[in-house]
Amino acid sequence: MKTTNAHVVVLGTGGTIAGRAADAADALGYVAGQIGVRELVGQVSVPGVALRAEQVANVDSKDMEFAIWRELAGRCSHWVAQDEVSGVVVTHGTDTLEETAFFLHSVLPLQKPVVLTCAMRPATAFAPDGPQNLRDAIVVAAAPGARGVLGVCAGAVHSGEDVRKVHTYRVNAFSSGDNGALGDVEEGRLRQLRAWPDPPAAAATSLRAVLAADALPRGEILTSHAGARGAMIDMLVRERAAGSEGAVQGLVLAGTGNGTLHHSVGEAALRALEAGIAVWRTTRCANGRVLPHAGDALPGAGPLTSVQARVAMMLALLRGEDARVPRLT
Ligand code: SIN
Repeated sequence: MKTTNAHVVVLGTGGTIAGRAADAADALGYVAGQIGVRELVGQVSVPGVALRAEQVANVDSKDMEFAIWRELAGRCSHWVAQDEVSGVVVTHGTDTLEETAFFLHSVLPLQKPVVLTCAMRPATAFAPDGPQNLRDAIVVAAAPGARGVLGVCAGAVHSGEDVRKVHTYRVNAFSSGDNGALGDVEEGRLRQLRAWPDPPAAAATSLRAVLAADALPRGEILTSHAGARGAMIDMLVRERAAGSEGAVQGLVLAGTGNGTLHHSVGEAALRALEAGIAVWRTTRCANGRVLPHAGDALPGAGPLTSVQARVAMMLALLRGEDARVPRLT
């Protein structure tokens, strides 16, 4: 697919793509979120595509917060509503890109593309991957017919529903799990392999709720493992019983295999459920989904990873829904 006369807005949030190191050989000892998005955009061009840049934040994405998500959702929503805008690119750190992608997927009722991109090497590296990733993301954002929240890294296009970081160091750090990548970008051309993601039915309602909220309801993730104990869950239940401000409202349990829990964790989880805390099970496995089985005491979150399930749960709570069972649409 070739692009002409497109207009793409690039929103900067920080990350290694905007990172600086004192030494070009150092791909670890750098500070993320140092370079402004206008400077990053100034380094790339795509024929036939006009670019505009806007700084939303400039952080290391390990420190991502709801206030930035809310601002980002608002700016994406604003820009995609402009007739002349073909799509939006978001520059982001790799570490929580999958959470931001899933959050935006959950709250943006999109008919245009919002493409997150990133880098594994700082902008000051001998061979930075950021400019190529940014250029590829712009190609996707400008591609006729493209839509939905997407992630672009190392030439692969991922759906915002599927994308996850799978490597700590390599430039090809992302995967779409069992579903596989949505497409590729090769020599400035998008090759689409499967359908664009559809926003969930509740996206518009979620967006309204997010834009009006000061915070998301608190959701936590705990992992089940050999020798696990339910004491942490009991502590959260006590906090809630004491009426503490910001007490937990939802709990995602990253279980073993098909979402199974150490019996100590499982027993405490039932006490949490009894205390009014929503509890969903996910899996620690890198691939696969939690399949339901007759007699399950706690619902599984299906294909959602633990961090995705937490986002889905907090949004369901924010919408005021009964979040005891995940809505998997
Ligand atoms: C970050 O997530 O902001 C730092 C790490 C990275 O972008 O690779």
